Amino acid sequence: MRALTVIPGHGGSLAVSEVPDPEPGEHELLVEGLALGVCGTDKEIARGEYGWAPPGRDRLVLGHESLGRVRRAPRGGDFAEGDLVVGVVRRPDPEPCGACARGQFDMCRNGRYTERGIKELDGYGSTLWTVEADYAVRLDPGLHETGVLMEPTTVVAKAWDEVQRVGERAWFEPRRALVTGAGPIGLLAALLGVQRGLDVHVLDRVEDGPKPGLVSRLGATYHAEDAAAVTERLRPDVVIEATGAGPVVFDVISGTAPYGIVCLTGVSATGRPLRVDAGSVNRDLVLDNGVVLGSVNANLRHYRAAADALAKADRSWLEALITRRVPLERAKEAFDGGEDDVKVVLTLDGEG
Ligand code: BGC
Repeated sequence: MRALTVIPGHGGSLAVSEVPDPEPGEHELLVEGLALGVCGTDKEIARGEYGWAPPGRDRLVLGHESLGRVRRAPRGGDFAEGDLVVGVVRRPDPEPCGACARGQFDMCRNGRYTERGIKELDGYGSTLWTVEADYAVRLDPGLHETGVLMEPTTVVAKAWDEVQRVGERAWFEPRRALVTGAGPIGLLAALLGVQRGLDVHVLDRVEDGPKPGLVSRLGATYHAEDAAAVTERLRPDVVIEATGAGPVVFDVISGTAPYGIVCLTGVSATGRPLRVDAGSVNRDLVLDNGVVLGSVNANLRHYRAAADALAKADRSWLEALITRRVPLERAKEAFDGGEDDVKVVLTLDGEG
């Protein structure tokens, strides 16, 4: 079969290669790959800046934003041939730590977790893949074009879940949310905010292209201004930060309403020092009971929440988030950012 592979640590090693077909184990599904989303993490791995190959190998099959159709499933299990499925990204550490032992592998405490397509396990970037039935999630059959948005949706489903739990430490009735960054994570965070009945605002740098329209189609408000000015004016109860840009992070921390919660989801570049008045940031957080939390990955509970959120979302809006589909054989094109790209997807089933 054909697979998108990379040698982690070696920029420029991305290749579409012939690899042996996978053989499903007793409790595994054999899945025909339909599509694969490409995100910032994949680009980092392709540049040689992140990622780990499986032990004893040079190459890793890339890809963690999956979508496929079950070709073969264990008899008597929860899945059947033809089901639309995605595979979970993370697996618990072998020890396991307390969090992994309780199914909260997204909160792994010792860093020895593994991740499909990222850390020591082959990913979903191949025309056929296998997945343990316990780490597969079925999607509404109507999501055959857009279900590839599932993994980034799980990341924001977790972020909102965290916000809710943190908020509930006292009386919590948020009204206004600000999402910074209108990439796939930001837009999906906005979708989930709207589904929660909040007054959602989205901030990004660009003034044209698809982003402003995608935000207004959600019934949310788009802003292309300075982050400090927008946050100051809106005084949001919740911020989902999805740019990972240092200055934006500190602007939103300083501008939330009292009892505000800032959830950071953007994996930032390092080595760009910033001058901040740490005393002022600390003072505001203390006097306002403010919270800043980081959030990564997702566990099965978040996958189920994301599957529900996608099932009730407007299909044409989800479709519009996918701005480019590139066949696997031309995979490298998906790694070069087009100016108006939101989500770029590789097609694995020969459909261009
Ligand atoms: C993925 C997460 C993963 C993280 C760190 C992100 O791109 O969406 O599932 O945990 O990278 O490897």
